Amino acid sequence: MRVLVTGGAGYIGSHTLLQLLRSDHDVLVYDNFTNSAPEALARVQSLSNRPLAQVTGDIRDSTRLNETFAQFRPEAVIHFAGLKSVGNSVAHPLSYYDTNVAGTLQLLRAMSSHGCDRIVFSSSATVYGEAIYLPCDEDHPLQPASPYGRSKMMVEMIIRDWAARHRDTSAVLLRYFNPVGADASGRIGEDPTDIPENLMPYVAQVAVGTRAELSVYGADYPTDDGTGERDYIHVEDLARAHCAALDYAARSPGCEAINVGTGTSVSVLQMVAAFERASGRPIPYRVVPRRAGDVARMCANVAKAQRLLGWQAQMGLEEMCRSTWAWQSANPAGYRQQA
Ligand code: NAD
Ligand code: WQD
Repeated sequence: MRVLVTGGAGYIGSHTLLQLLRSDHDVLVYDNFTNSAPEALARVQSLSNRPLAQVTGDIRDSTRLNETFAQFRPEAVIHFAGLKSVGNSVAHPLSYYDTNVAGTLQLLRAMSSHGCDRIVFSSSATVYGEAIYLPCDEDHPLQPASPYGRSKMMVEMIIRDWAARHRDTSAVLLRYFNPVGADASGRIGEDPTDIPENLMPYVAQVAVGTRAELSVYGADYPTDDGTGERDYIHVEDLARAHCAALDYAARSPGCEAINVGTGTSVSVLQMVAAFERASGRPIPYRVVPRRAGDVARMCANVAKAQRLLGWQAQMGLEEMCRSTWAWQSANPAGYRQQA
């Protein structure tokens, strides 16, 4: 299948490209490299030993998008491009609505103009907000607590309406829980340009010596060890979910939101202990007050992914930590340093 991948140079995109190329899809990446490096694509090409077409462009640039659609004639789009920091979205809400919402509108317009009627969209468990019940299924009410989360919810609604206008259209809204890990090669991985907001990249930077210690945001939650629990999903499993979603979209018109997680949750201290084992390095940490907006526990109901996509997570905490360490230890400065 000819697949246009927006944001393909990013963390989840680069891992998905590998799976797509290994599954013999023809792929074109459309990315403006605002939060990624061309080096990621070079490494994907060398790992897959397959050609990878690339266009440097912004999803808000309709001229460039239309040129790209006219030349490549994609049969499907996987739409990763967007801004993703919860904290930054509070400070710069308009940028988030502009890139995430207005950018998606331009993309859908280009798809409509060029007869492309299949999309897999990167949504997030953040659309659920604070869960009323766990594990959280796709029918759980949507009550996102940040501009970022609201931008994802809005895009979901827009895609749902777009898909409803024509009976041949198919859309899969993948709601990722907490993506972590890296390709087992250690050649590609998550490369935050700033101080990491997320737990796993922060822990990895402490292990490699870039940061002195981890701040554990609260140890007084109503969980087994008092620290926050999340449903971490290995990025390779997540990449496979995209391939399964593409196949599903090819045979199933309509629009479906689907959780992508493991169905289990892991605490901050369990993650720290697992990373110490995987890396053989100590992870010094200090318990500090809770982070505003955090919840005690989050966990996916993954029955729908299994039922519709025939997909389920295969990789556990140990592989998540081992692969992150393989990437971080070989690339202490990320893509900025050639391996
Ligand atoms: P990332 O920042 O690594 O990748 C996003 C990519 O989009 C980058 O390569 C960036 O350069 C590109 N991009 C951003 N704005 C663009 C624009 N205007 N035009 C073209 N390209 C643009 O992020 P990621 O972690 O790989 O996330 C991918 C998607 O998944 C995002 O939409 C994110 O919101 C969503 N998501 C991520 C997580 C997570 O924890 N990583 C969780 C849930 C959902
Ligand atoms: C996990 C746990 C923290 C950092 C965020 C977004 C969500 C999605 C995934 C995009 C929590 C604790 C963290 C640290 C800590 N992204 N923690 N010290 O908050 O579940 O989800 O990323 O869609 O939208 O909100 O993930 O990795 O930030 O936190 O103790 O330095 O680790 O309190 O319990 P979160 P996270």
